Amino acid sequence: MTPLLQVQNLAKHYAVRIPDGLGHRRATLRAVDGISFSLSAGQTLGLVGESGCGKTTTARLVLGLMQATQGRVLFEGQSVPSTRDATWRDLRQRMQMVYQNPLGALDRRLPVITQVLEPLRIHHRSDPLEHMEQAQALMASLGLAKSLWSRYPHELSGGQRQRVVLSRALILKPSLLVCDEPVSALDVSIQAQVINLLQDVQELMGVAYLFISHDLKVVRQVSDQVAVMYLGQIVEQAPPAQLFSEPLHPYSQALVSAIPSLWNRQQKTKIVLQGEPPNPLSLQSGCVFQQRCPYAEDRCREQSPILTPLTSERQVACHMLAQKPQGQNTLVESCS
Ligand SMILES: Nc1ncnc2c1ncn2[C@@H]1O[C@H](COP(=O)(O)OP(=O)(O)OP(=O)(O)O)[C@@H](O)[C@H]1O
Ligand SMILES: [Mg+2]
Repeated sequence: MTPLLQVQNLAKHYAVRIPDGLGHRRATLRAVDGISFSLSAGQTLGLVGESGCGKTTTARLVLGLMQATQGRVLFEGQSVPSTRDATWRDLRQRMQMVYQNPLGALDRRLPVITQVLEPLRIHHRSDPLEHMEQAQALMASLGLAKSLWSRYPHELSGGQRQRVVLSRALILKPSLLVCDEPVSALDVSIQAQVINLLQDVQELMGVAYLFISHDLKVVRQVSDQVAVMYLGQIVEQAPPAQLFSEPLHPYSQALVSAIPSLWNRQQKTKIVLQGEPPNPLSLQSGCVFQQRCPYAEDRCREQSPILTPLTSERQVACHMLAQKPQGQNTLVESCS
C-alpha cells in the first residue's frame, strides 16, 4: 500500500550573508539536508532533535509552505507543489498544521467559533447552517463547552486555545496533521490532557501525525516511529521501544541518556557530548556528528554516512555502526 506521506531526499538550503571584517561573505546554510522518510495513514512519526536542527523547516516543506532546494514530498501518492495553485489548495485541505503557540495561531479579533468555521467557509463546503452544526459538534467533542464558543482567544486558557486550534485543524477531516511542538507552550498537566486528546482524535478519525518535539517523553508516548535529526539530517529512525531502550547512533544515545533516570531505567549514566554543536554555516565534509563523536575516524571526516536499514524497522547513519553486529553497539563512553 502507498504510504500517506513520502519524503524523498528533501533539502532546504539558504544562501546567507555573514559579516566579515567590513564587508560580508556568502555562505550556504543547510537547514534540511537530504532527508527521507514515510508515514502510513493513521500512524505517528515523531521528529526529535535539538533547537535549529531543521524540524520546523521540515514541517513547512512537507506542507508545501516553502520551496525545496532538492527532493520531493508525495502526499497520497501525489507530488506536493510549493506554488499555491489549485492542486496545492486541494491537498492542503487534507494536510493541516498545529503550531506551538496557540495564541499566535489564532486571530485575537475574532470569536473562536468563527475561526473554527473559517476553513469550511474558504473551501465552500455545504451550507452555513450545516457548517455551524459541524463546528459545534467538533468543538464539543474536543472538550470545549458551549459557553466558550463565542469567546475571543485571550478569554481562554492555553489548553482551551490549543483545543480551538485543533478544532480548526480538524474541521476539514484531514488525513495528516503536522504538529510542531504542539504542547511545548502548555504547562505539564495541560500537556498531558492535550496529548491524550490527540491520541483519542487519532483513534477516532484515523488521522496521521508528523509530531515534532524536543520532549523525548512525549515523543515516546505518541509515536509509532521516531526519527532523530541532527544538523539537517536524520541520523537514526526506529520504533520508540527500540530507540529508547537501545539507541544506536551516538547522538541518539546522548539524547536518550539525558532523560531522567526514573523514567529511563536502563541508562544509568548521562552521556555528556563534548563541545558545542558545530556552526551550521561552516560544516566540514563527512559526517555531521564527527566533531562531537568520540568514535570518529578518518572515514567519518571524509564521507557522509547514509541512513542505512539495519532491520526492517530501523535505520542508522553511522559508519561505525554499519560495521558492527547488532547488540554490540556500546559506542559512546559514559560519564556521570
Ligand atoms: N529564512 C531563513 N534564512 C536562513 N536560515 C534560516 C531561515 N529559517 C531557518 N533558518 C535556519 O535553519 C535552521 C533550522 O531552523 P528550524 O526552524 O527548522 O529549526 P528547529 O529544529 O525547528 O528549531 P527549534 O527547535 O528551535 O524550533 C536554523 O539554523 C535556522 O537558523
Ligand atoms: Mg522549530
